[in-house]
Amino acid sequence: MSEDQHLHSDPQETPSTETTDLSLSRRGFLKGMGTGAVTAAVAPAIFVNQAEAKQQSITELPGVTDTRIQLRINGQTHTVDIEARATLASVLRDQLEITGAKVVCDRGECGACTVMVDGRTAYSCTMLALDAQDKEISTIEGLADGDKLHPVQEAFIEKDALMCGFCTPGFVLSTKALLDKNNNPTLEEVKRGVSGNICRCGTYPRVFEAALAAAQKMRNGG
Ligand code: FES
Ligand code: FES
Repeated sequence: MSEDQHLHSDPQETPSTETTDLSLSRRGFLKGMGTGAVTAAVAPAIFVNQAEAKQQSITELPGVTDTRIQLRINGQTHTVDIEARATLASVLRDQLEITGAKVVCDRGECGACTVMVDGRTAYSCTMLALDAQDKEISTIEGLADGDKLHPVQEAFIEKDALMCGFCTPGFVLSTKALLDKNNNPTLEEVKRGVSGNICRCGTYPRVFEAALAAAQKMRNGG
């Protein structure tokens, strides 16, 4: 009996052995399990094999496997195993648990992840940790001298230059980088100096005030 004949045959009629085998092996199986169950039963093996193959080929690429590097952070040397693609922000926060630099946009737009690298501000979310080797990295954690806050930190507190505080480490470091070079800036120079940082709470006037106050402190010897 052909497949078409079988579909229209009397259901009570005993089918031939050949037809019974076909029906059981296909319709019975599908009816009993449902397509979802079939997918669940078969797909994982396929995906696992594909994933294994992909993983294997990725780890064979140069630079993808872990690399041991040393980073100088706040005067201390840290040895850490990283993936070549790891950003400085992710290594600081996720591997070294130095979490002062915040990751907000993660694309070099907001400045929340600002650190200082060899005295200049840098977005740690867009800098590879590999590129930070052999450089002096400063984060907000290294700014105070023991219990003595840096003048910029003091000024931010005194001028109440923060609300949620998420942007604050970045603003403080950008301000410090500016004042290290120019401790008598104009308001316009302050605005330009922190223009790479965004404050979603809108505390800009107080940040500018704090920067000018910090400059005064530094001129007076901190
Ligand atoms: S998190 Fe790096 S610039 Fe926004
Ligand atoms: S104080 Fe909240 S983002 Fe600046």
